[in-house]
Formats: sequence, C-alpha cells, structure tokens
Amino acid sequence: MTNTLPTTLTHLGTMPVAEFIRDYWQQKPLLIRQAFPDFQTPISAEEIAGLALEEEVESRLVVEEPDPNNPMASAWRMEHGPLDDNVFDGLPASHWTLLIQAVDQIFPTVHKLLNRFRFIPNWRLDDVMVSYAAAGGGVGPHFDYYDVFLLQAEGRRHWRLGQMANATSPLRDDTDMKILTEFETSADWVLEPGDMLYIPPNLAHWGVALDNCMTFSIGFRAPSHSDLLLEFSQAISEDLAADARFTDPGFPPQDNPGLIHASAIDQAAEILRSLLDDKAKLAEWFGRYMTEPKRLAPTADEPSDGLRLAAYSRAAYIPTEQGAQLFINGESAECSLALAQAICSYVALEPSDYSLDDQALLEEAIAEGWLTDERG
Ligand code: SIN
Ligand code: CO
Repeated sequence: MTNTLPTTLTHLGTMPVAEFIRDYWQQKPLLIRQAFPDFQTPISAEEIAGLALEEEVESRLVVEEPDPNNPMASAWRMEHGPLDDNVFDGLPASHWTLLIQAVDQIFPTVHKLLNRFRFIPNWRLDDVMVSYAAAGGGVGPHFDYYDVFLLQAEGRRHWRLGQMANATSPLRDDTDMKILTEFETSADWVLEPGDMLYIPPNLAHWGVALDNCMTFSIGFRAPSHSDLLLEFSQAISEDLAADARFTDPGFPPQDNPGLIHASAIDQAAEILRSLLDDKAKLAEWFGRYMTEPKRLAPTADEPSDGLRLAAYSRAAYIPTEQGAQLFINGESAECSLALAQAICSYVALEPSDYSLDDQALLEEAIAEGWLTDERG
C-alpha cells in the first residue's frame, strides 16, 4: 500500500485530543494561544473581497452603525451576496464585516487546514467560513447551535464570551440578524494571528475587530431532532407498501363511536417504533444524510497532486462484515475497508492497490466528480 493515513497532529497546543473531547467539546470554551505558531493567512483580503462578487459563493456583508452611548444598541444592516463590484467604494472606514462560507471548498490552502481537525468526524464538519472586518467590525452578540473553532488569521480581534443561550433567549426584533438583546460577559481575550478559540454550541460570543482583521471559523453541523425525524421518515416512507396499514381486528367494544381506545394509540406507537427500529435502514439513511453536500460543487482550484477526495466532497463509512459501506455526497456503495478509510482521510489513492470491484467504484467516483484526478 502506498497510502499513508494523516498523522493525528492537531492544533490543541499541548492538550491531548482525549482530554479536549472529554472536558471541552460541546461543553466549555477553550482558548489556545498560538495553536498555529507563526500563522500567516493563506488568502488575502482582496481574494476574500473577490469571492463576495461571485454568484456561486455564499456571502454576506454586515454593516454596523454604532450607538455612541450603548454598545448593545447599534443599528445593523445585512446584505447577501453576490455583491456589486462597487460596493466596497461606498463602505465606511470602520464597523463592517464580510463573511464568506465554504472557503475550504474554494481554496486548497484553506482546505488543508482541516487536516488538523480530523480528530472530529468528517460528517460533523460543516465548512470554513472566513470573515474579513474593518476595525470595529463584527456580527454582534449572538450564539450558534454549532461548535466552532475561531482561528485568528490576520490582525487582532477582541472576543467576549457571554452566557449560555437557547431558542427562548430574547433577540433584537429590528434586524434579521440573530442578535441577542442581553450579554453578560464571562471572559474576554484579544486574539492575535495563530491564536484559536473553541466555542461550544449555545455559548453567547461577541467578536470585535481591533484593526483590519481576518478570522477563520471552522464550523460543525448538527441536525435538529426535527430534521432527523422529518428526513428519516420521508426516506423510509418512500419504500413502504400501500397495503401496510393500521389494522384493528377484534377491537374492544365501545359505547361511544367517538372513543379512541388506548389500544389504538398503542398500536400506532408500535407501528412507528417498528419502523424506527430498523437499524440497517437507519444506518444507510444516516450515512447518506450526513454526507449530503449542502452546497453545489464550486469551481474549485483543486490541488494537482493525485487522485483523492475532492475538497467539496463529504465522505464517511460504516464497517461491515464484507468491508465497508461508503457514503459520498449522499450516495452509498459497498467497498473494502481500506478503500473507505483512504477516501475518508483525503489521502492520494493508487487504484492498483485495490480490488477490481474497488477500482470500478473509483472510476465511477471520478466520473461523478467526487474525486479529483490530477495524476501526473
Ligand atoms: C466572525 O468571524 O465575525 C463571526 C464568527 C462567529 O461569531 O461565529
Ligand atoms: Co458565532
């Protein structure tokens, strides 16, 4: 085998991964000074500004009008991209920020940063959002439903952590941006290039640029219970035969025709439970659902160093008795465990290392554009 799986090198400073997962992930914030020592941004402010003009890139421009007497009372304006190319001429000298989603799918140098976060499952990862702010710029006090690592890439940003918030926390009603009306500062730090802050879901935070400042948000995804139920039931209902029905032979006699007897509710619960209990169907659906790309394949500048999973692709696998069930971009296929592991680790693939069945799958994945094929 010519494949080498990536090392477990992380950017948690001296902290072992197991300790981070046990004590911080999904629970507590963590500041890691110089997580990326001597970090230099792999993309420039000009490149970020250029992306905001492109149709296929998801971007937002946020402009804040501060209230000199009350930092919680700023007026906020948000514009979704693509932006006009003269938009930057009309911007004030301070208090604006530009946010670009999925920059990892556009710039291979940003995608490479993700290799340092492979200790978290691929299918939990969402994207790298890059923000570029003028002094004073930010998106206001808010919380997210997702875990995020905030890596300071250029300039300095003052981060304040607040209280735990949730869906009932009061939000400003004069803007579509989800800005909290209350913020109780629990910690604050100035981050310099290479410093990184982990923030668990629901913890309020507020970042303000101290100078021209670029921040990379390595964000994760977590489906809501509502989405899990809706999407799974939608997927399995397509395969259910029309004659699979609620039945009531020998129903208990009742005095009033309106009575819904407890046994009917029990039967409905039993039907639903048995449908949800099909672990094989659930596993197949979960793998597909968690690898569905949220965004269209961008016209990425792919690295020209071999056959490997494309930066926009999402892949995961479940080991099986025969090998593995591999999921790529919402599709599923059987293959060897070695191939599934190599694909999911973004290593360069050498088709001749694998069986003919695996090679046929590789051909199909190349034809679909799920793998980049830049073999010299
Ligand atoms: C930012 O980079 O300005 C915002 C990132 C965040 O708060 O999640
Ligand atoms: Co946030």
